[in-house]
Amino acid sequence: MDVKLKMSEYAAAINAAMTAYIKKPPHKHTGDLHTAMEYAMFPGGKRLRPLVLIGSCLAAGGSLEKALPFACAMEMIHVYSLIHDDLPAMDNSDTRHGKPSCFKAFGEAAAILAGDGFLNLAYETMLEACVNDFCMENARAAHVIAEAAGVLGMIGGQMADILYEKKEADKDVLLYIHENKTSALFQAAGYAGAILGNAPEAESLRYKEAWKSAGIAFQIKDDIENETGDAAALGKPVGSDAANRKNTYVSVFGMDKARADMKEYAEAAVKTLGEVCGTDAFITKLAGLIFV
Ligand code: IPE
Ligand code: IPE
Ligand code: MG
Ligand code: MG
Repeated sequence: MDVKLKMSEYAAAINAAMTAYIKKPPHKHTGDLHTAMEYAMFPGGKRLRPLVLIGSCLAAGGSLEKALPFACAMEMIHVYSLIHDDLPAMDNSDTRHGKPSCFKAFGEAAAILAGDGFLNLAYETMLEACVNDFCMENARAAHVIAEAAGVLGMIGGQMADILYEKKEADKDVLLYIHENKTSALFQAAGYAGAILGNAPEAESLRYKEAWKSAGIAFQIKDDIENETGDAAALGKPVGSDAANRKNTYVSVFGMDKARADMKEYAEAAVKTLGEVCGTDAFITKLAGLIFV
């Protein structure tokens, strides 16, 4: 199985579905709002969270069709979080996905509302899937995703990230930030995907556990790249964490431990997924690919 080929195949399905979800005739009195949303979504990033949801659903025995609305909802929540993350009141970041960030291109008010628009559209999309197919898997997947995106998940992590700027965070705080601002959505993608595939609960929880670990590894990688990466390749600034005096895995633990722990978290994820669905499954290979 060619994992990269599968990734682009599923990403194309995500993009096609997303285009249909966003495409509502813009109202003549809403200015650039619709354009700002399309600008932030396309061509976009790696689509990792929806790929994790789709891969988990397929590995558990479900279909792409069943996963797609929830996969799109995850990417909408992710894109809203990036639009808001770049705002002057948060990370004040001028570039994203290799172009001016949404607030730089459209102004702060339109960027705030474009982010709100995506957050709302995510729930519209998940509820529509529930209305069209009223089953427990759909309702549970929506609940899992909503909870992970909320105050007990991503939003809480983002708040702690901001509150600890210019203050020293200990290991406990740093792990809280990483587990929530980033890992929470990955966990939800793995867990909700398995639920949509009708996996037994004990098995679904193992997908969640694997992506908790992979999500932490992913944020450690982001922290490392913010110090050592290439802005053009990443499509976003480097050195900004130090400039904003952020607490990162690198600032708290040092580069060597960051690299070692990233590898350990990533390997733990691949091991768990290998046990649950085999080393050859798309989802196992996806986890392995991200962290090499
Ligand atoms: C960036 O995530 C924000 C983090 C949580 C580290 P991604 O790297 O997945 O974002 P895309 O691929 O640019 O959308
Ligand atoms: C982003 O974390 C996390 C969310 C948007 C929820 P960062 O601020 O570290 O990510 P980048 O480096 O801007 O993508
Ligand atoms: Mg941030
Ligand atoms: Mg940021």
